[in-house]
Amino acid sequence: MKIFLDSANLESIKTYNDMGILDGVTTNPSLLSKEKGDPRKVMNEIVRIVKGPVNLEVIGTDYEVMIEEAHRLKKYGENVVVKIPMIPAGLRAVKRLAQEGISTNVTLIFSSNQAILAAKSGASYVSPFIGRLDDNGQDGMSIVREITQIFANYKFETEILVASIRHPIHVIEAGKCGADIVTLPPEILQKMFTHPLTDKGLNGFLSDWNKVKDLNPDLLF
Ligand code: E4P
Repeated sequence: MKIFLDSANLESIKTYNDMGILDGVTTNPSLLSKEKGDPRKVMNEIVRIVKGPVNLEVIGTDYEVMIEEAHRLKKYGENVVVKIPMIPAGLRAVKRLAQEGISTNVTLIFSSNQAILAAKSGASYVSPFIGRLDDNGQDGMSIVREITQIFANYKFETEILVASIRHPIHVIEAGKCGADIVTLPPEILQKMFTHPLTDKGLNGFLSDWNKVKDLNPDLLF
């Protein structure tokens, strides 16, 4: 399972990238709008820090505009994946970009049928937004289950990038479904680290060792 960070925050990206646990990054216009400074500088910096795919999203909704923006976004770096919204003009853009060898991620997927169409158009990734479905009173993970089964049945090469993740159980469920990637906000990734027994165990080890050190003040290793 690959882990992407769903954030445009440079500090968080650096922190998790330095731990070697990040396979890529997803951004969107809302995430970029939360960061200070020129978004172009932020995008440049993300692409410089992260070696894996960095997803940058178009703003336009017309075919020609999306193509033009995709070409501009691609100039930020070889590892840029262009995020395109799940609309008819978007899928037309995905087809053209695939012919040009530009990777795309079709975003705002809320049904398995949308995922099938995005894959057929040549998308490199599809992003089902499971948290937003849950918020809407639907079972978001059920579409991840369906999409993984359908893509496996037909050997679609499009990768399933589970997005809009709200808690660590979503990560485990996505993994059990066999989804290729989860993209996590920093707060959720942080929660994956912690367990009270880890803290308790470490405190116990350190306080026991301090007793040994009290008896042997020069002890080093
Ligand atoms: C994915 O690429 C999106 O940026 C993201 O996961 C959306 O999540 P949200 O529903 O928490 O905004």
